[in-house]
Amino acid sequence: MAKVKTNYTCTECGGISNKWAGQCPACAAWNTLVETVVESAGNNRFSSQPQGLAQTAPVLSLADIEAIDVPRFGTGIEEFDRVLGGGLVSGGVVLIGGDPGIGKSTLLLQALANLARAKKVLYVSGEESGSQIALRAKRLAVDAHELKLQAEIQLEKILGTLADLKPEVAVIDSIQTMYSDALTSAPGSVAQVRECAAQLTRAAKQSGVTIIMVGHVTKEGALAGPRVLEHIVDTVLYFEGDTHSSFRLVRAIKNRFGAVNELGVFAMTEKGLKGVSNPSALFLSQHDNPVPGSCVMVTQEGTRPLLVEVQALVDSSPLPNARRLSVGLEQNRLAMLLAVMHRHAGVAAFDQDVFINAVGGVKITEPAADLAVLLAIHSSMRSKPLPRGLVVFGEVGLAGEIRPAPRGQERLREAAKLGFSMALIPKSNAPKQQIEGLKIIGVERIDEALNRIREYE
Ligand code: TYD
Ligand code: MG
Repeated sequence: MAKVKTNYTCTECGGISNKWAGQCPACAAWNTLVETVVESAGNNRFSSQPQGLAQTAPVLSLADIEAIDVPRFGTGIEEFDRVLGGGLVSGGVVLIGGDPGIGKSTLLLQALANLARAKKVLYVSGEESGSQIALRAKRLAVDAHELKLQAEIQLEKILGTLADLKPEVAVIDSIQTMYSDALTSAPGSVAQVRECAAQLTRAAKQSGVTIIMVGHVTKEGALAGPRVLEHIVDTVLYFEGDTHSSFRLVRAIKNRFGAVNELGVFAMTEKGLKGVSNPSALFLSQHDNPVPGSCVMVTQEGTRPLLVEVQALVDSSPLPNARRLSVGLEQNRLAMLLAVMHRHAGVAAFDQDVFINAVGGVKITEPAADLAVLLAIHSSMRSKPLPRGLVVFGEVGLAGEIRPAPRGQERLREAAKLGFSMALIPKSNAPKQQIEGLKIIGVERIDEALNRIREYE
């Protein structure tokens, strides 16, 4: 077989160079050249037509195309199916990202063992040997008799196995250990990761095998992270959570076959990952008495509301530029909220270090966390705890207004169910009918919110 020709393409400007260089000759950006396979016009690797028989896909009107509902099959793990939007899809490609050691291989081995009862499945591992995986399967006490395993890292051989064995589901663990013969760069480099993912995706689309790829989230550097693949695959899931706590969250970032932002909650146990079906109270820390700087919010993750405690610590800063640090919440929004609090409520924090944290390693990206962050900061600053049983949500605008959050009713009902007695929320989220056991305080502006809270101190 003739060696495939490669060249180097700049990830910034798309400039092409024959040799690798530290700096792109076209746009002068540093470290942006990645090796790519040269595709000659007549021999496109992605066309299924024989050479020389170029054929264009027909142009159709949308009405003539039959909308076929994609058949789904469950993995036997309810929380995993939930993030997948109801299960796996034939020919679908799923990418699962996460820090090393968070539980990706564990979850997939459990899922594959379940699937193996009814389907032909293949587990390709580039990281662990067969005996290591067998040991894990034993530890997980899963029935892995029918599970086919291949310890292989060369892409072409894996594609061969896929063609021979014709599995219905295949796991590639991990994409960063795979390499293609077509490229000379090392496994894990951007070029290799992209090429392998593209080839596997193509195999999935052609043969209908469902492929689940594992991608390690890495610090920038030698290994290419799963982010470079997000556009290639159909579904992107990320593991989150604190590796020190036993809870793991799997979040859907992108899903061509279902809703995004759906959240699966697991607990890591002696026997692998176990789904947590009622997770709403997981992210609350237990205080006997209310403490300053702590505020509970209801966040809506996909179809489920979750109660999360937001903590803040405000301390006078020894530095000329006070620090603003956030864990699990957006850093940029923190600076913005402090500015809003100063301008519209007259509370200044420019000489104070401000730290905020979402308890339990959850990441909250929705702006409805704003009000909780502000109240936690305000409470820490004054060393006055917020009233017992208080729950809040609401977005804060630059003009100091409190904006409504979607699905307010559901959030309030969940809070009432867990025994919260008071809710400080955007006025337009206030329900028309009373919710049993929950006192609702609707506010329109940030200064109003802080004043209402001071009444309870
Ligand atoms: P693993 O799935 O190997 O992580 P990844 O593939 O994402 O790198 O998970 C490894 C961690 O999970 C390891 O630190 C041990 C822990 N673990 C358990 O606590 N219980 C178990 O039953 C298993 C299999 C792993
Ligand atoms: Mg692993």
